[in-house]
Amino acid sequence: MMRAMLCAGQERQGFKMEKKQIDWSSLGFGYQQTDYRYVANYKNGAWEEGTLTRDANVVINECAGVLQYSQSCFEGLKAYTTEDGHIVTFRPDLNAQRMKDSCEWLEMPVYPVDKWVEAVKMTVKANEAWVAPYGSGATLYIRPYMFGSNAVIGVKPADEYQFRILTTPVGPYFKGGVKPITIRISDFDRAAPHGTGHIKAGLNYAMSLHAIMDAHRNGFDENLYLDPATRTKIEETGGANVLLVKKDGTLVVPKSGSILPSITRRSLVYIAQEILGMKVEEREVLFDEVRKGEFAECGLCGTAAVISPVARIYDHGTTYEFPDGKDDIGPVMKKLYDTLTGIQMGRLEAPEGWICVID
Ligand code: PLP
Ligand code: COI
Repeated sequence: MMRAMLCAGQERQGFKMEKKQIDWSSLGFGYQQTDYRYVANYKNGAWEEGTLTRDANVVINECAGVLQYSQSCFEGLKAYTTEDGHIVTFRPDLNAQRMKDSCEWLEMPVYPVDKWVEAVKMTVKANEAWVAPYGSGATLYIRPYMFGSNAVIGVKPADEYQFRILTTPVGPYFKGGVKPITIRISDFDRAAPHGTGHIKAGLNYAMSLHAIMDAHRNGFDENLYLDPATRTKIEETGGANVLLVKKDGTLVVPKSGSILPSITRRSLVYIAQEILGMKVEEREVLFDEVRKGEFAECGLCGTAAVISPVARIYDHGTTYEFPDGKDDIGPVMKKLYDTLTGIQMGRLEAPEGWICVID
């Protein structure tokens, strides 16, 4: 059975071997225009039928809600080629649900969850030639997004919206792949208490642009945001949640109402507890615990970041290093990384419902 599936997969791929001529292994995390994208318009209180288009440009009114009041949200997931030649995505239903939450918070119409997943599958299928081959180190990044498209000048939600899905082939989010990075405590906040930190609103990322450029100018890879109310607790970085490992091997993940509920993080908590038999604490984490040297390893997790190990955190003149992960990815992060990517690439059995086969 497995052999038959394998042969069919290879034959199918062999037949369509018009994979794009890309040096997959040298890709960074950038935008490259692919052949098709999905577009659906919301008008007169209802979604029109969505379609695939070759047109990568968006033409909207000069006063569109997104241009004036940043009414937009987005998602991020990836398509992978598995070891046996299938194209799959990872838990797209959770992205659809999170976009629903974002839309509700931003007074935008929800694109129905089941149609959302179908639209993702359709877009990936149409761009099959752009899905990186197994083992190349690259993937096809999928970016569903929605924005207010009609003119609004008073501060209010738009009446018309566009939902689109673009795809682009990507490599590692941080240059150097799984080489441990250096992050710094940010003096800027990305999310306000009781604000929009828990949803994937474009405005959260606008908030972080000055902070990320300032971090880069000062030689850091990313910002670590503390809770904006007290500046004592670890929140997340600009594009990923945080993972910490205590000296006894316990995985500790910061809990907060103003961080994005990362699908990668939720999956890793399950993997740690149910597959690897690890102890996990999901709780508020004081930065003082880092100062006291209580953690052996640290990492960032997300769709783009996968698991990016953190070597050290710079805090206003003092640097705190993680002893088991400062030169190379530490043993616990490595185990989590291997298990997560093993599941995504079809090398390990996935928990029920995690892998969505496209082709
Ligand atoms: N936190 C932020 C701010 C993000 O932008 C992302 C990326 O989506 C994540 C965390 C990780 O979330 P996920 O694992 O669902 O990609
Ligand atoms: C993702 O991981 O999908 C994100 O949206 C993070 C983004 C900063 C690239």
